[in-house]
Amino acid sequence: MTGTAGKTLILGNSKMNLTVARARAFLDLFLPRLSPPADREVVLAAPFTVLPAISESLRGQPVGLAAQNIFWEDEGPYTGEISGQMLSELGVTYVLIGHSERRTHFQEDNRMINRKIRAALRNRLKPVLCVGEPEDVRAAGRAEAMVREQVVHALEDVPPAEAAGMVAAYEPIWAIGTGRAASPADAAEMHACIRAELDRLLGPAGGTIRILYGGSVTPENIDVLMARPEIDGVLVGAASLKAEEFLRIVEYSENSGSLPANR
Ligand code: PGA
Repeated sequence: MTGTAGKTLILGNSKMNLTVARARAFLDLFLPRLSPPADREVVLAAPFTVLPAISESLRGQPVGLAAQNIFWEDEGPYTGEISGQMLSELGVTYVLIGHSERRTHFQEDNRMINRKIRAALRNRLKPVLCVGEPEDVRAAGRAEAMVREQVVHALEDVPPAEAAGMVAAYEPIWAIGTGRAASPADAAEMHACIRAELDRLLGPAGGTIRILYGGSVTPENIDVLMARPEIDGVLVGAASLKAEEFLRIVEYSENSGSLPANR
């Protein structure tokens, strides 16, 4: 890995697929068999309604807790929204920001995402900034430009010292939920571009930001993805809902995943 923040991050994103009962059933299967290698950090991003119950179940376990969204104000007349203060109180440590499903279905733009990043940092939550291009943008050769722009806007007015320790995730939209993961080489190229942008914007603090890959990560492709030094972890959707598959992902082996350099 190139991010200097230490451990590889394996982050499961259950999206809008967990009730409390379903989360408990998952953890009953997952936790007894989980023993992550010392170089890995495992985190679950759960729906708001599930966070209190699983925060309790995860006490003393080698699993951290993330929220899937945050509002940019800390309190006030914002019916239906959830603030950073509310999340911190539940033992949440990470929060996904700018996931493409939120950009697409809820019209979140770069300005809103920037406000959310700043709200998370203000509340001592580590943002997981998600960026990625749609298929037509890639086909037009503009993927790097678009992703760089997403990173630049997200980090506007964020002091480098505060950004240290946050996380970025490259999630090409065409790879999410499609079974068509980016090739390790394509992912690595985009990660290198995001890394260069983080270094340019944040100086040495940029090096503390881990860059995850997300989009159709499975037990079958995790080894080849993690064999790339540019990839500091993964953001896993569908495969994180099945205990068996997610355990296999946590237990990836970089060595068995080596491929020729042109893949
Ligand atoms: P997927 O989702 O693994 O189901 O493609 C990834 C994500 O949206 O974070």
